[in-house]
Amino acid sequence: MATAVEATPRNIPTPRIRQTQCFIGGQWVPAQSGKTFETINPATEEVLASVAEGDAADVDLAVQAARKAFESGDWPKMDARDRGRLIARLADLIEEEKEELAALESLDNGKPIRDALNADLPLTIDCLRYYAGYADKIHGQTIPIRGNYFCYTRKEPVGVVGQIIPWNFPMLMVAWKWGPALAAGCTIVMKPAEQTPLTCLRMARLAQKAGFPDGVINVIPGFGPTAGAAIVRHPGIDKIAFTGSTETAQIIMREAAPTLKRITFELGGKSPNIVFSDADFDAAIAGAHFGLYFNQGQCCCAGSRLFVEESIYQPFVDRLVELNRKRKLGDPLDPTTEQGPQVDQAQFDKIMHYIELGRKEGATCLTGGKRYGSRGYYIEPTLFVDVRDDMAIARDEIFGPVMSVLKFRSLDEIAQRANNTTYGLAAAVWTRDIAKAHALAAKLRAGTVWINCYDVFDAAAPFGGYKMSGQGRELGEEGLKAYLETKTVTVALDRQ
Ligand code: NAI
Ligand code: MG
Repeated sequence: MATAVEATPRNIPTPRIRQTQCFIGGQWVPAQSGKTFETINPATEEVLASVAEGDAADVDLAVQAARKAFESGDWPKMDARDRGRLIARLADLIEEEKEELAALESLDNGKPIRDALNADLPLTIDCLRYYAGYADKIHGQTIPIRGNYFCYTRKEPVGVVGQIIPWNFPMLMVAWKWGPALAAGCTIVMKPAEQTPLTCLRMARLAQKAGFPDGVINVIPGFGPTAGAAIVRHPGIDKIAFTGSTETAQIIMREAAPTLKRITFELGGKSPNIVFSDADFDAAIAGAHFGLYFNQGQCCCAGSRLFVEESIYQPFVDRLVELNRKRKLGDPLDPTTEQGPQVDQAQFDKIMHYIELGRKEGATCLTGGKRYGSRGYYIEPTLFVDVRDDMAIARDEIFGPVMSVLKFRSLDEIAQRANNTTYGLAAAVWTRDIAKAHALAAKLRAGTVWINCYDVFDAAAPFGGYKMSGQGRELGEEGLKAYLETKTVTVALDRQ
């Protein structure tokens, strides 16, 4: 089905919604059940399109197509360098349509068009190009073992991978998953989030145009407990790569146990953002504001526990309040909009529940705390002070525009408090004292530590969590290795 969305302001092209079916073995097909679900525009609560609702039967067909493509046909025979060229070609095709793709992302997810254009699209393209360059640089070692043997390793693709992604950075998550999997020579069954299937489906169309052999990439839109669970359980899938909530990861780990699939998880967080009194005040203010409110607070690495040293606490809070009051909420397609709606009603309700809890537990709400407007899932930028470490708003991932500001006095105290969480995804330190910065970076139990910056991502830099924030790493060389098996080959050299 095809729908046109009403005229968008300024120079942004009106996105066309053309791909709404399952993509299996190079064909666009309805779900076997004939069922569809609606994806909505969170800014207006209106339906954007009806999308095929895949489940176990569709997943099974996709796995068959992916297995066939992995085991026979052009893909396993293809030179690694040509595999890289296909990935680079996909990046080029995305770049050619980047304005329209940004608008489509903005419509389906609610994120401001300027964020989609300045962050999601460039990072998506860059990630695919980075991994395109890896395809022909994957090789094993020769190893001097005891005795008269020749021993070497081969790095082989792990096989058919099931990739399940969330809705907060829909296109970027596709790139993080497809880039290394395709470079490694794997084939893919992907399930996009039910809230935001449209850009993933468009990327599948562009992959088809780029010339990937049929069955290398398959996309099954649908829901977690049906389509997602079928991917996790399917014996024809060798590895699961999942980004999403810690709770769903726990289900996936259990469900993947019978088939002992390889697993990588990129999960939630409650990341400490730590500002010392000797920091560049303006830079730290900007970093604290951006580190939490970017993407409506819907970031796994959001700096949602802001620790500010006592001596600068009050002026720091005053400036944060000022910034929140100036923040521009509105139509995501308006290029001046800084904050759009939350992705859906469920997220809206969860965030409002936490705001209520914050008030009940005795924190003081200095800005926001309410819905913005009367249409769409907008929440005002919310700032809590008088927050204690044991309050729910300081412990749980809220995944919304809700900041908790906490006070601290010393380096030892802050390391201990920052680490007092079940999560360990990211952290940041703001100070001009380099010795203090590195000392604290070493003590923080988190997969990423930013010093005097926040949310700096690069396809070459590994990303992932300690503790309940994840398993394994994505991006960089480590991200590629997650899609490879090592085979050790040993040859006797002393036979006649
Ligand atoms: P979720 O973890 O349930 O959803 C993420 C993906 O997993 C979606 O594609 C979903 O369909 C799929 N899924 C759900 N249940 C599944 C199952 N049993 N088997 C296989 N796949 C399944 O997250 P949800 O419900 O969208 O958001 C809830 C909370 O999770 C958010 O409020 C936030 O705290 C956190 N979250 C964290 C993200 C991150 O980037 N780390 C991204 C999205 C959500
Ligand atoms: Mg949507």
